[in-house]
Amino acid sequence: MWNSVDFDRVDINGQPPEQEPWRQYYFIKKARGYVADLAERLGHEPTACTVTFGCQMNARDSEKLAGVLEEVGFWLTEDESADFVIYNTCTVRDNANQRVYGRLGFVNSMKKKNRLKRVALCGCMMQEPSVIEKIRKSYRFVDLIFGTHNIYMFPELFCRMFESNGMVVDIWKDSDRIVEELPVERKYSFKSGINIMFGCNNFCTYCIVPYVRGREKSRRPEEILGEIRRLAADGVVEIMLLGQNVNSYGRGLDNPMSFAQLLQEVEKVEGIERIRFMTSHPKDLSDELIQVMKESKKICRHLHLPLQSGSSRILKAMNRHYTKEQFVALAEKIKREIPDISLTTDIMVGFPGETAQDVDDTIDVIRTVGFDNAFTFIYSPRTGTPAAAMEQVPHQQVQEGFDRVLGCVQETAKKQVARLAGQTLTALAEEQNDQDPSLITGRLSNNTIVHFPGDPSLIGKLVDVRLEECHGFYYTGRMV
Ligand code: SAH
Ligand code: SF4
Ligand code: F3S
Repeated sequence: MWNSVDFDRVDINGQPPEQEPWRQYYFIKKARGYVADLAERLGHEPTACTVTFGCQMNARDSEKLAGVLEEVGFWLTEDESADFVIYNTCTVRDNANQRVYGRLGFVNSMKKKNRLKRVALCGCMMQEPSVIEKIRKSYRFVDLIFGTHNIYMFPELFCRMFESNGMVVDIWKDSDRIVEELPVERKYSFKSGINIMFGCNNFCTYCIVPYVRGREKSRRPEEILGEIRRLAADGVVEIMLLGQNVNSYGRGLDNPMSFAQLLQEVEKVEGIERIRFMTSHPKDLSDELIQVMKESKKICRHLHLPLQSGSSRILKAMNRHYTKEQFVALAEKIKREIPDISLTTDIMVGFPGETAQDVDDTIDVIRTVGFDNAFTFIYSPRTGTPAAAMEQVPHQQVQEGFDRVLGCVQETAKKQVARLAGQTLTALAEEQNDQDPSLITGRLSNNTIVHFPGDPSLIGKLVDVRLEECHGFYYTGRMV
């Protein structure tokens, strides 16, 4: 495993090895030389900053980048004035792209002041050829660009950046390999995300993820469990299993295994107290999974189940493979089997062809199911997806529908969350409150946030908290 590798002893006199991950270990050692030179020229320890724009999987990738950066000799900061800045991009909606372009303008002005500063771009947005074209033309100061499939080669690409004069660009269309055992630097000491699968095969007609993340591939269970055991030994108590559609985990493995079976194995890992996962596609959520969740002592009482739309007609056009009635029946079954569960969801408004009646259907599902929270999005056309070529809904109509959906979500979520008042529940103490340092922010098993008086020594511990007052989406309370 990588943290038992003594990089100082890696031999870089000969050619780099062909095999992974040893090839990247070779480049980590080589990169240390480049960073040491940089330190001499700067006159201080070089700093590096990773900026994440996307989902939990994007955030986990950033931890892998940070792991390499620390290993090659950078001091990690959250300040973009660092000597090396890497933007890990997202392209799920257009506003994610616009944020990246905005930041590039800002970082360019800093680069003019620090000539030794280097800037890299990676992540989903870089898998779009039109983006690469635009950066080559208008953002020529960028030093390194790579994509989602070759992120494991970051040490090698980093060296190439130091060896070249111009912009280094390396993007792959797809890949069927998963490279294990590369460095990771976790953001939190007590909780961690873990990839269980990569890519997506669902091709919902609005979504760009299958195009930029490639085909679905599952990690082998032994690799996942090995990683979880090591995390537990390192003090992690909560893990989140990550995939675009965790319910289809294991299908392509040599020895196929279901997601529910994987969860049962994870449950056995000593030291892990809480298990979460993201995201579940309603079409693949099995009765087996509901039973495993019901019987588990560690799987959190929270399920994120993206609805997208409550209209069966729109769901069909979205290629979601379920109807309004099937979704409602599934949600009711889950709530019947696991009464203390919290359901959250994603909802999109403005998909091509959506009418005010379709929005009524969505609102009807929100009221019937009673979500604890919902992320609401305005549909954003993505180049190359089938929905982008369909006739779009006028902006004014989309905005009206969106406001109605948002109002309904807020109203039902408030009612749902308020049901916990007066209960004493276990919270994982996660951080000191930003606004009031006498408070600790904790998270309940069902993902609700509670602020309570306490000191930072509690962080990472599970404590019992009485929920005293509900403030819409969160509680204030007291340790008991
Ligand atoms: N794999 C997950 C979702 C990944 S993207 C799933 O199937 O649920 C996260 C959310 O972004 C989606 O649930 C969807 O609501 C939203 N989203 C995806 N593409 C979008 C688009 N083109 N416009 C607006 N929202 C979008
Ligand atoms: Fe996108 Fe659908 Fe795949 Fe989720 S399941 S990532 S929404 S294509
Ligand atoms: Fe965005 Fe890529 Fe995640 S497009 S939502 S960062 S998989």
